[in-house]
Amino acid sequence: MTSILKPEGDWLSKVEEFFNNDEPVALPTETVYGLAAPISRPKAIAKIFDLKNRPTFNPLIVHLKKDWDIFNWVEKLTDVESRLIEKFWPGPLSLVLPKKNIPDICTASSKLVVLRAPKNKIFEQVLDGYGVPLAAPSANTSTRLSPTTAIRVQEDLGERGLKAIVDGGRSSEGLESTIVQVVNEKLRILREGALSDEELVLAGFEIDKSYQSQVAAASGDVMPGQGKHYAPLVPLVVMDDPQKWVSYHSNKKLLFLKILESDAPGLKPFNQKAQFVVLSQNDLKEAAFELFETLRLAETEVEQIVVLKTKDIGLGRAINDRLRRANG
Ligand code: TXA
Ligand code: MG
Repeated sequence: MTSILKPEGDWLSKVEEFFNNDEPVALPTETVYGLAAPISRPKAIAKIFDLKNRPTFNPLIVHLKKDWDIFNWVEKLTDVESRLIEKFWPGPLSLVLPKKNIPDICTASSKLVVLRAPKNKIFEQVLDGYGVPLAAPSANTSTRLSPTTAIRVQEDLGERGLKAIVDGGRSSEGLESTIVQVVNEKLRILREGALSDEELVLAGFEIDKSYQSQVAAASGDVMPGQGKHYAPLVPLVVMDDPQKWVSYHSNKKLLFLKILESDAPGLKPFNQKAQFVVLSQNDLKEAAFELFETLRLAETEVEQIVVLKTKDIGLGRAINDRLRRANG
């Protein structure tokens, strides 16, 4: 049985009790829900890998408070890294840094750690209460979609033995953090995410455009979450030609998914087996937010998803990245 805790009354001491019994707890963050455990409790950390069915060679993001002394946890920071932290923490920016006092089990024995300070009151209260950084990968089984609500966490991890979830409502970003590594003062985007390139550039940072994550993965560099990932349970086809997209045919029950800013022709179902969904007419942030939820719903409603790519601008890049990975 998974307890779903409302963040009221003595919820915080309950969370701490789970941690003290070496049980991870799923917590909301502004990006997606995380499966959290204190880095000081190796048995609880080991359970994160178990619950997610995650290979132990895949390291965990570690979360802390911005107002903590970061030098308890990292060896050093460059100027650019300090400025990034100053500007974007707390928030959806994760940084690859040389670790200190962080157990090898959290980082899959790497000397580097991916760190971030989440912007979510509930998560921050747990950090303040326990006083130790929390490792927290997204609260889903390996390769599946990240959850943006407590109920999605329960559906995925409840049967696998997760003991508790704190329900903090919908994640406000709905897309994972952007993972950045600073090399020679330039930013390598290791994973596109809720913080767009444009925002980083606007704040005066230089992105290493020559760096391409897929190429780096092949060369054995630090490379978060490559390969098939973020995948719904039903097959997903990604198209970039609106005409081909709208005329895609199959005997299966289809969901046609389109995201704002793609120049698609009018949305009319052309056979009774198909459903059309347009994600957020309003803005890409809202679309990013709805994307995972829509894919999750589609798993029970249709047999295949046919999605039209959006433009590679702003959050559109992160959305297209998730679609590409969902496609394998
Ligand atoms: O928004 C987020 O980042 C969410 C919330 C819960 O914070 N977390 C998240 O964690 O997305 P996860 O584990 O699902 O994705 C983190 C990615 C993984 O692909 C992992 O391989 C990579 O970051 N990663 C973590 N630590 C790393 C390290 N030390 N070196 C290289 N890659 C690392
Ligand atoms: Mg994940």
